[in-house]
Amino acid sequence: MLFKSIVSLALVAAAAAQTAIKGKVFDHIFIVFLENTDYTLAASDPALQAFISQGVLLDKYYGVTHPSEPNYIAAAGGDYFGMNDDAFYAIPSNYTTIVDLLEKKNLTWKAYQEDAPTACYRDFQNNGLYFRKHNPFIIYDSIATNATRCANVVPATQLQTDIAAGNIPNYAFYTPNMINDGHNTTVADASKWLTSFLPPLLSNKSFINNTLVVITFDETETYKIENRVWTMLLGDVVANFKNTTDSTFYTHYSLLSTVESNWDLGNLGRQDANATVANVFDVVAKSTGYTNQNITNPPLMNGTEPGFLAPTPTASPTSTSTSTSKPSSADALAAPKVMAALAALTGAFAALI
Ligand SMILES: *[C@@H]1O[C@H](CO)[C@@H](O)[C@H](O)[C@H]1NC(C)=O
Ligand SMILES: *[C@@H]1O[C@H](CO)[C@@H](O)[C@H](O)[C@H]1NC(C)=O
Ligand SMILES: *[C@@H]1O[C@H](CO)[C@@H](O)[C@H](O)[C@H]1NC(C)=O
Ligand SMILES: *[C@@H]1O[C@H](CO)[C@@H](O)[C@H](O)[C@H]1NC(C)=O
Ligand SMILES: *[C@@H]1O[C@H](CO)[C@@H](O)[C@H](O)[C@H]1NC(C)=O
Ligand SMILES: *[C@@H]1O[C@H](CO)[C@@H](O)[C@H](O)[C@H]1NC(C)=O
Ligand SMILES: *[C@@H]1O[C@H](CO)[C@@H](O)[C@H](O)[C@H]1NC(C)=O
Ligand SMILES: *[C@@H]1O[C@H](CO)[C@@H](O)[C@H](O)[C@H]1NC(C)=O
Ligand SMILES: *[C@@H]1O[C@H](CO)[C@@H](O)[C@H](O)[C@H]1NC(C)=O
Ligand SMILES: *[C@@H]1O[C@H](CO)[C@@H](O)[C@H](O)[C@H]1NC(C)=O
Repeated sequence: MLFKSIVSLALVAAAAAQTAIKGKVFDHIFIVFLENTDYTLAASDPALQAFISQGVLLDKYYGVTHPSEPNYIAAAGGDYFGMNDDAFYAIPSNYTTIVDLLEKKNLTWKAYQEDAPTACYRDFQNNGLYFRKHNPFIIYDSIATNATRCANVVPATQLQTDIAAGNIPNYAFYTPNMINDGHNTTVADASKWLTSFLPPLLSNKSFINNTLVVITFDETETYKIENRVWTMLLGDVVANFKNTTDSTFYTHYSLLSTVESNWDLGNLGRQDANATVANVFDVVAKSTGYTNQNITNPPLMNGTEPGFLAPTPTASPTSTSTSTSKPSSADALAAPKVMAALAALTGAFAALI
């Protein structure tokens, strides 16, 4: 009896949450980040080209800085706060992210992380395959230090379980491992992985159910050029726009503004609210009434704007180092965790010898 009423309460709660989740254009968004590839190189890859007929190519979409980590941070929180390296960061818990806006509307979310060994895994890396720098959700303490939220940062194997259970979050961010995302490999390896990973999802009716799939790259490999990255929109939401190209100027901040516009979430008050860099994907803007800016000479987006993590602007960002130590003010914030990571590494090393 008690069990039954708990179950029915749970069903009522689920139904209540369901009523809040109707998006204007999509009910689900699934974002996949590949790594470090210049636009022209990606555009010349035959396996990536094969996706073009199935969706909308965004040929003026930009990363927002260099190297990798701040791009991920920006995609989840609307700024990179001056971050200009790939070190171990923990952004204080008073910094909001898209998660705050989603949860306010009872929308569900998850971050799927290939080769993360457990949910809410906080370490710097695992097996050389999972790296914290590619998982923005664990870097924001507003998520990492909240057990309920952190439980949504899961190993990617959870995805198939969630699809089978009909439990697809409204917002999903998928980080392939260092081999599959092209980081340690080539764009051909990344596109080969995508070609095996994506088509079964695109044809799976439990997964593709008013779903917008976004495939993008975090940044260009070359720093001295515009930070333009190859990006595709796929899924049933763009079925009427297959094999088209949208040349509106977008950036990773558009990932936020598009989600915000689709569900009327408001904004984070950061670059997601900067009209110049946060155009809403046109397939969505058309229906939500958002007016995009016609930016004919886009900024290069290859520098670093100062922020609280690096108050002094640097001439050129450091390369994609995976060092755990870092001589900057951010150390003060991340120091305990850097120490913990170093201790863990030392422990692992000790265990080896
Ligand atoms: C977060 O708290 C710190 C320390 O109190 C403060 O300096 C900073 O401005 C706050 N940031 C935000 C976004 O509230
Ligand atoms: C979210 O769910 C809670 C509890 O089920 C409900 O009280 C609240 O009104 C809902 N909020 C929205 C925006 O639907
Ligand atoms: C990938 O490259 C990083 C250095 O960027 C290295 O630490 C890691 O071990 C490599 N992973 C694999 C699986 O080779
Ligand atoms: C922790 O997360 C839960 C669920 O996401 C949220 O309701 C709660 O307000 C958060 N707690 C804090 C202290 O932010
Ligand atoms: C969709 O994917 C799930 C999880 O892998 C699987 O259980 C289900 O059979 C698939 N459905 C279809 C129609 O392919
Ligand atoms: C698609 O989502 C709707 C709710 O938005 C649900 O009623 C329907 O069962 C879902 N379809 C599939 C095949 O999962
Ligand atoms: C950005 O690209 C421009 C144009 O190619 C180049 O002159 C500049 O040095 C680059 N900026 C950085 C920080 O790499
Ligand atoms: C896609 O569009 C191009 C021209 O932009 C055309 O050459 C090609 O045949 C189209 N492919 C499909 C599958 O419709
Ligand atoms: C909006 O973005 C542009 C291009 O990056 C930048 O020049 C401008 O300073 C930004 N505005 C604000 C208020 O941050
Ligand atoms: C954007 O502006 C350019 C140059 O002013 C113009 O040629 C183009 O048609 C405009 N595009 C849109 C979508 O308004």
